[in-house]
Amino acid sequence: MSKNSYYVSTPIYYVNDKPHIGHSYTTILADVLANYHRLLGTPTYFLTGTDEHGQKVQQAAEKNGLTPQEQCDQTVVRFQELWKRLEITNDDFIRTTEPRHKKIVQEVLQDLYDRDEIYRAEYEGWYCVGCERFFTEKDLVDGNCPECGRKVDAIQEANYFFRMSKYQEWLIDYIETHPEFIQPDFRANETLGFLKNNELQDLCISRPKSRLAWGIELPFDSQFITYVWFDALLNYITAIGYKTDDEMFNKWWPASQQLIGKDILTTHTVYWPTMLKAMGVELPKTVFAHGWWLTGRTKMSKSLGNVVNPMEMIDRYGVDAFRYFLIAEMTLGQDASFTEEAFVRRYNSDLANDLGNLLSRTANMLGRYCDGKVPMIGKTVVEFGPEKELWDTVQLAVVEMESSIDTMRLNSGLSAVLTAVRKVNQYFEIKQPWTLAKEGKAEEVGLTLTLAAESLRVCAALLYPVMPEKMTALRKVFGLGKPEPDQLTAFGVIKAGTVIEEIAPLFPRVELKKEEEKPVSTEPVKPEGVITYDDVMNVKLRTAKVLEAEKVEGADKLLRLQIEVGDEKRQLVAGIAQHYSAEEVIGKTIVIVANLKPAKIRGVESQGMLLCASVGDQLKLITVDGELPFSGAVVK
Ligand code: ME8
Ligand code: MG
Repeated sequence: MSKNSYYVSTPIYYVNDKPHIGHSYTTILADVLANYHRLLGTPTYFLTGTDEHGQKVQQAAEKNGLTPQEQCDQTVVRFQELWKRLEITNDDFIRTTEPRHKKIVQEVLQDLYDRDEIYRAEYEGWYCVGCERFFTEKDLVDGNCPECGRKVDAIQEANYFFRMSKYQEWLIDYIETHPEFIQPDFRANETLGFLKNNELQDLCISRPKSRLAWGIELPFDSQFITYVWFDALLNYITAIGYKTDDEMFNKWWPASQQLIGKDILTTHTVYWPTMLKAMGVELPKTVFAHGWWLTGRTKMSKSLGNVVNPMEMIDRYGVDAFRYFLIAEMTLGQDASFTEEAFVRRYNSDLANDLGNLLSRTANMLGRYCDGKVPMIGKTVVEFGPEKELWDTVQLAVVEMESSIDTMRLNSGLSAVLTAVRKVNQYFEIKQPWTLAKEGKAEEVGLTLTLAAESLRVCAALLYPVMPEKMTALRKVFGLGKPEPDQLTAFGVIKAGTVIEEIAPLFPRVELKKEEEKPVSTEPVKPEGVITYDDVMNVKLRTAKVLEAEKVEGADKLLRLQIEVGDEKRQLVAGIAQHYSAEEVIGKTIVIVANLKPAKIRGVESQGMLLCASVGDQLKLITVDGELPFSGAVVK
């Protein structure tokens, strides 16, 4: 990426209630983007904060028996603590009740008033308290708010208006000539559709104090306070020194990406650009509207009371897994459904099985075959064979991850990294370092394990922006610190001779909590009898060589098999004794479910399950066509 700076912002959240997953999501997304840009060496600024004025906050205060300021001071801590817990690396946190913000909002208002961009008029119309917006008679849907469907109040009063209507044609033209301004594309079309089919009204930017006192006083009329959106939107520039610190302001503005949820598209793509235009300030490069996290089919929202509490998820599964799930699970722009089942499934398959296991395996083998040190190898590049194939896959992940940031397809970037992780696991199956070690091929073992470690290093760097804590722990195993930009494409960064640090499993497998503790499952129903791709990927089928076999005493159907699965020896109990004798099965290469939870069958431990074809009352072992060079091959 050739940009010389990156400024990303989140909406500033209302402090009428504590944060939920939706708020966590936008903030984590901004954090991941900020981390990636830092990783790529781009100077980065990341802003979040809270929206503390307006009717919602005033009403919440009244309900809680607090002053509005007390309501703000108590709730803001909930956000700040959650962000700390979620490892959010924002450079600043703006609160709209801070003097630094209020002062500039008043300067902007005065300037617009002086230049007749703001005027006073009588107003008659409808007002939605929930949305804090005015509507004309014809905006209403069945007499209710067109945005949220709730009841609206008839209102007649004097107010101040921003001449938004005069920018209608300009805004249409701007959006049409700046395709990057509103992302994804279909959201730009949404705003354009609205602008082309409606006559844009002037925006009421004041509230009489007699009705609402909690806001920034208009500098030119002390009977009024500022409409909360006019105040709130300005946070994006007051925080970075607009009118107070030109150097800082010019360094970061225009913002690279302003992240929002689709619920606040109009305010950010109609109000905000016209305000900036009137002020003579450049527009942000991109406003990106993501979809909603849903509970079932409905939006998760404080007002609907169907929210998932992020703190609970973190307590159960850890911060990094939570961050990973949110980023991996949502296709940016679309809605996504949050279920704990999906969370646990993805955690176990991507993090516990693939990534966590790979680290344990690599570290164990380095311990066993290389004296617990990163071996010395002669090569600094890999030019052919399975090594090249692996390294190419890892480098493809580097490219994919970077381009997925540019195109906001983070989930596909992550899946490229997971493909690389799985490739290392496959590489082990191909190379069989355990066999190489037995054959005394130390140099080949060294190369294999070094390549695995280097691949893990790069994958951990690519995943670091999403899972900073766990990836720091992973990299520490190989004596590495924070990832650096130019190391993504380099080979041989881990120093030979580095002593491998011991580490507990990075992502221990988790089980879904007991039925009564489970949140309501809201996953779209699958057709009966059908499983998903993920379900298939969760079953690990491997080939195994039968080394020994004998009948289980007192059980005429059971054979006890000793099998070899790669570098592992296992015992497996199979109900095939009436179809095969012990002698018949010894030496056969069979197919087993390798990740079945071990169980005792007639008191004998069985680790896995073999596959048979069942024909009438006959069982036929599933075996492999031809000879394989080793056992434990992946079956797919
Ligand atoms: O609108 N799914 O604040 P807010 C995804 N103060 N994201 C969600 C979400 C969900 N279910 N629910 C909330 C405001 N969000 C104003 C903003 S900006 C100048 C002023 C996220 O507390 C999403 O980013 O209602 C959404 O736009 C934002 O929280 C709304 O937060
Ligand atoms: Mg909201």
